[in-house]
Amino acid sequence: MNQVQLKDKKFSLFIEEERILASIVALAEKINIDYKDKNPLFIGVLNGSFMFASDLLKNISLDCEISFVKISSYDGTSSTGKINNLIGLNQDISGRDVIVLEDIVDTGNTIENLYNTIIAKNPNSIKFATLLLKPDVYKKSIKLDYVAISIANDFIVGYGLDYDGLGRNLRDIYKITK
Ligand code: IMP
Ligand code: MG
Repeated sequence: MNQVQLKDKKFSLFIEEERILASIVALAEKINIDYKDKNPLFIGVLNGSFMFASDLLKNISLDCEISFVKISSYDGTSSTGKINNLIGLNQDISGRDVIVLEDIVDTGNTIENLYNTIIAKNPNSIKFATLLLKPDVYKKSIKLDYVAISIANDFIVGYGLDYDGLGRNLRDIYKITK
């Protein structure tokens, strides 16, 4: 499928599943090395990160746990800058080595908010892993420790990412056509 239409917008094929999965395997290998002999707690950010979290964890060979939080900041195709905390962290994370899993980091508002929430709960360490990064937009100082793929500032859908709720089920990633 080279083109998809979601509501009023058209999208064209941008990153194929094969490349997505290869970049996730490479990222998992780094985590397997960096967290050798540790028992990290992954925290996936819903909704967007569900596919990334699933494919990443299948390639993690450490003893590990996963939990999810649900946050939303996007409306249609742009960031609102306002974070809605929909499902919080209900687990004791003190002393844990936390790795936050994001689908995409854009302005960084979401991860900044999460950083502040998580650090207040006294983890031993906190790192961020994201499938996608828009480096031209990201202006925050929080270090992104694991980035699978960097992209230009275009709106994308697929592989967990949505436009107005649609497109999350697509295996590949598609870019909006102007
Ligand atoms: P941030 O808070 O601006 O960094 O935005 C992060 C969140 O906005 C991500 O977790 C996504 O859910 C959503 N988002 C950012 N860029 C895109 C995009 O291009 N397509 C779909 N969702 C996006
Ligand atoms: Mg998200």
